[in-house]
Amino acid sequence: MALIDSFGRTIHYLRVSITDRCNLNCDYCRIDGNEILPNNDKLLTLEEIGRLIRIFTELGIERIRLTGGEPLLRKNILTLIKEIGSLPHLQELSLSTNALLLKRYAHDLKKAGVSRVNISLDTLNPKTFNTITRGGKLQKVLDGISTAVEAGLHPVKINMVVMKGVNDNEVGDMVEYARTHGLILRFIETMPVGDAGKQVSARYIPAEEILTMIKERFAAELIPVHQKIGSGPARYYQIVGTKANIGVISARSRHFCDTCNRMRLTSTGQLVLCLGHEDRKDLRTTIREGATDVQLKEQIQEAVYLKPESHQFDNKDILGATHQMTALGG
Ligand code: 5AD
Repeated sequence: MALIDSFGRTIHYLRVSITDRCNLNCDYCRIDGNEILPNNDKLLTLEEIGRLIRIFTELGIERIRLTGGEPLLRKNILTLIKEIGSLPHLQELSLSTNALLLKRYAHDLKKAGVSRVNISLDTLNPKTFNTITRGGKLQKVLDGISTAVEAGLHPVKINMVVMKGVNDNEVGDMVEYARTHGLILRFIETMPVGDAGKQVSARYIPAEEILTMIKERFAAELIPVHQKIGSGPARYYQIVGTKANIGVISARSRHFCDTCNRMRLTSTGQLVLCLGHEDRKDLRTTIREGATDVQLKEQIQEAVYLKPESHQFDNKDILGATHQMTALGG
């Protein structure tokens, strides 16, 4: 079985947001104050999530990533992970987290079937961290990262959203940190997704500039790494003369839509076909109307066929108001 869209792309990766709540409040992801969380009755239950994920794997999804909000805030997440971890067609189960709760959870996650984690870390400066996250404590994240490494959630990947005037002076320090801790580091361009993402658009730095900063800091050339690292959209480079590899995710300056292999499921059961389009299929209503597995599979296959060819971040008519990063999971 395979899910193939109308442009011939095989979709084998699903990101599943299991809560919109977060224990940080990053300014490029959340607007401050009057945030509206979905009503509890709209949230998929763990049983519904488990069932949908099983169905997706039967249709050809091979890799699942749990996201949020912060996924570790969802109650009984380990039960869900054990259930997903035992699905016969699944090749990889991973998690995107801010690491605040990893000290407590990393070993259990590994035991329950999570193979690896991606961690958001934008700065190594406690003050800057506190500002970006509107109140977060950096040390807890650093402790969480150490525990993830110790628990063997390998490889631990770090995502840094690079922002002009905020943390762009730390690109080189982050390379050093990642290298000494054995982490894979990826630099992400800010995306104008959601109200918060649009608000911080002015801080956008293109990947090429980030690469130039690294060349200057290490007085070294960067050579592209051709060997495949993960199946995500990052382009990797080796810093010549060191063993360090770094990745860039240039969703804005150089999009990678022609190799897109993914879809997203929100915590309220909306199947989102593209990060840069509002198009979505409401699977919650379908499931709650009593659809059989076969009916759900038909709906999913129809939706996949509607996946757009590429995102259009700069087209305001397309990227409307319902699309919020907090519900899309990055
Ligand atoms: N632009 C780029 N990346 C973002 N993320 C959240 N909001 C944005 C944005 N506006 C990233 C987080 C995390 C991932 C899940 O999504 O930094 O690493």
